[in-house]
Amino acid sequence: MKILMVCLGNICRSPLAEGIMQSKIAQLGLEWQVDSAGTGAWHIGERPDRRSIDVARKYGIDITHQRARQFRASDLQEFDIVFAMDSSNFRNILGKANSREEEEKVKMIMNEVQPGYNQNVPDPYYDNDGFELVFQMLDEACERIIKRNIKPN
Ligand code: 4NP
Repeated sequence: MKILMVCLGNICRSPLAEGIMQSKIAQLGLEWQVDSAGTGAWHIGERPDRRSIDVARKYGIDITHQRARQFRASDLQEFDIVFAMDSSNFRNILGKANSREEEEKVKMIMNEVQPGYNQNVPDPYYDNDGFELVFQMLDEACERIIKRNIKPN
């Protein structure tokens, strides 16, 4: 299973989603791959936002090695599932799909918790208090993703 987490800047939400998922994968010994990207280009090459680094560290997850990159159309070939953090990301990703198969890979991440609600993970960039909520939302979503996709032996 290859999963890509996508937000706007790839410095706040999707690095947390990547780090949380990576941590759960490691704990369970799953051979899944996870990466993250942003639809925008402003922060290419940067570390995650300090506030994302801090909230991840609070829960024992180190995301300091991550570097922002931009989403590219070929990600829709390479990954099995592409999770959008919000509806704007979702539309931008879908705009790069070249087939029905690629379109079907794109999902709103919070629909893993409440299917069909199309709930956004709020952009915390301008909100210092938003990072804890984002962490908790993504932690729950990642837990559901794993439970739904894990195959019993
Ligand atoms: P993210 O947050 O999409 O969760 O990484 C943002 C980061 C940067 C900007 C917007 C959102 N920005 O406009 O630079």
